Amino acid sequence: RQAAVRINPTPGSSSVTGVTGAEGPSSRQAGNWTFNHTLANLIRKEILHFLDPVRDMSILRGAVSPGDTVHYVLDRHSSTHISDTLYRLLPSNPPLRRQYHHSCAIVGNSGILLNSRCGHQIDQHPFVIRCNLAPVEEFSVDVGSRTDLVTMNPSVVQRAFGDLLTDEWRQRFAHRLRALGSSVLWVPAFMAKGGEERVEWALRLIQEQGLDVRTAVPSLRLLHAVRGYWLTKHVPIKRPSTGLLMYTLATRFCSQLHLYGFWPFPLDSHGAPVKYHYYDQLTYHYTSSAGPHVMPLEYRTLSALHSQGALQLHTGPCE
Ligand code: CTP
Repeated sequence: RQAAVRINPTPGSSSVTGVTGAEGPSSRQAGNWTFNHTLANLIRKEILHFLDPVRDMSILRGAVSPGDTVHYVLDRHSSTHISDTLYRLLPSNPPLRRQYHHSCAIVGNSGILLNSRCGHQIDQHPFVIRCNLAPVEEFSVDVGSRTDLVTMNPSVVQRAFGDLLTDEWRQRFAHRLRALGSSVLWVPAFMAKGGEERVEWALRLIQEQGLDVRTAVPSLRLLHAVRGYWLTKHVPIKRPSTGLLMYTLATRFCSQLHLYGFWPFPLDSHGAPVKYHYYDQLTYHYTSSAGPHVMPLEYRTLSALHSQGALQLHTGPCE
């Protein structure tokens, strides 16, 4: 019997000062990192006790019918239903079944990517995951452009695409999705109440324009399963961020996992300001207990996994 994986998030870095000290990004570079294959396999096996990433990646068309009631994962007292459009865009088979890659990149959205020149390195990975439809065209030198799977929280439709209210916004949205070709668009439509109309507008547009992008909607059990896994590692995360969700799922599809753009702190290791997102002016209170995420704790966890060779965090410039 194999011993359980122990993860000890580096203590003391939930505050900005903690993480910008000796344990800063310079220690998260390729030079002194070796992949720990055994540990990565063990983590994959442990995660499989909690979720089945192949199945939980998306609700399948065969499992639901139009009009079915769905309770929101985080707002159990509220419900919505499976619309005709959503039903038609659900996959018939698990979108990533039979996929396994020797390395994958997960690209978070931190401003730490700006001037990193990591684009080429990111694009070299055979599978690239991105978050929340972050733009790539204008930033490709730093973030790359290859995308095999991209997430889209319903709020993105409002925040980055003007709620699709005008023709211009609709065109921009369609342009962004068209650039994805037949990649997977992962829409957590039933996580929290409030975004149902936005998801519906977005899906209608995909349908009307005949876009090739493949829609996936995570299973209703995914979030709790992911949370359950991390709880057993003594990482109490109320609501895992998209980045952590992607890491947890991707352990099933990828051998080596490389994380870029994960830096939930306002200063870099030299004390220079870092934007919350590389592409917009959004600000964020990383340590506020009112926020939905505990990204600094997540970062410490990922950082501990980096030190053990289970994944590689890239937080500095690429060669
Ligand atoms: N991220 C990070 N540091 C930042 C910004 C983002 O580590 N300064 C990571 C997080 O894992 C986050 C992911 O990149 O989930 C994608 O960023 P974003 O689109 O900002 O996600 P959020 O909207 O903040 O979080 P979520 O979508 O999970 O609600």
